[in-house]
Amino acid sequence: MAENLFIEKNLSLEEKYKTLETQLRVLLNKDENEISNLSNFTAALKETFDKISWVGFYIFDDKKLFLGPFQGKVACTSIEIGRGVCGAAAEKLETIIVPDVNSFNGHIACDTESKSEIVVPIIKDKKLWGVLDLDSTAYNSFNATDKIYLEIFCKFLSEKII
Ligand code: SME
Repeated sequence: MAENLFIEKNLSLEEKYKTLETQLRVLLNKDENEISNLSNFTAALKETFDKISWVGFYIFDDKKLFLGPFQGKVACTSIEIGRGVCGAAAEKLETIIVPDVNSFNGHIACDTESKSEIVVPIIKDKKLWGVLDLDSTAYNSFNATDKIYLEIFCKFLSEKII
């Protein structure tokens, strides 16, 4: 497939995710390099949703989370388990939605303009592989629909790509 996305601007959030999912399943595949796949995954999300200011992976190396492929401003290169939203999601193995980063105790402000965030843990072979982190410069940018589809995407990554 040509490396282009086709997502109509006027679709609903859910319709955009469904259209994106179909195209991701073609764009990404196990025959490609893992870093290439993960890089295109972050680019596809950022290209589809204007509300995303930063999207990327923090990957677990058995000690801490380190910065993986991402789109957005430069970011902190490592996060300890239990620290920040990423570390908390990695520790609890649960998706965390933060409507207002100022009200999350211990939030790590890589970008001072970030206002809300969602972090989805990625489990591979029953162990923590890392997390997917999305930031927005607006409050309340992420909801239950984002959670449902981002979890589906992360499951697809863990089962077919990483
Ligand atoms: N805000 C995150 C840190 C990573 S940056 O947002 C890219 C956190 O609190 O874990």
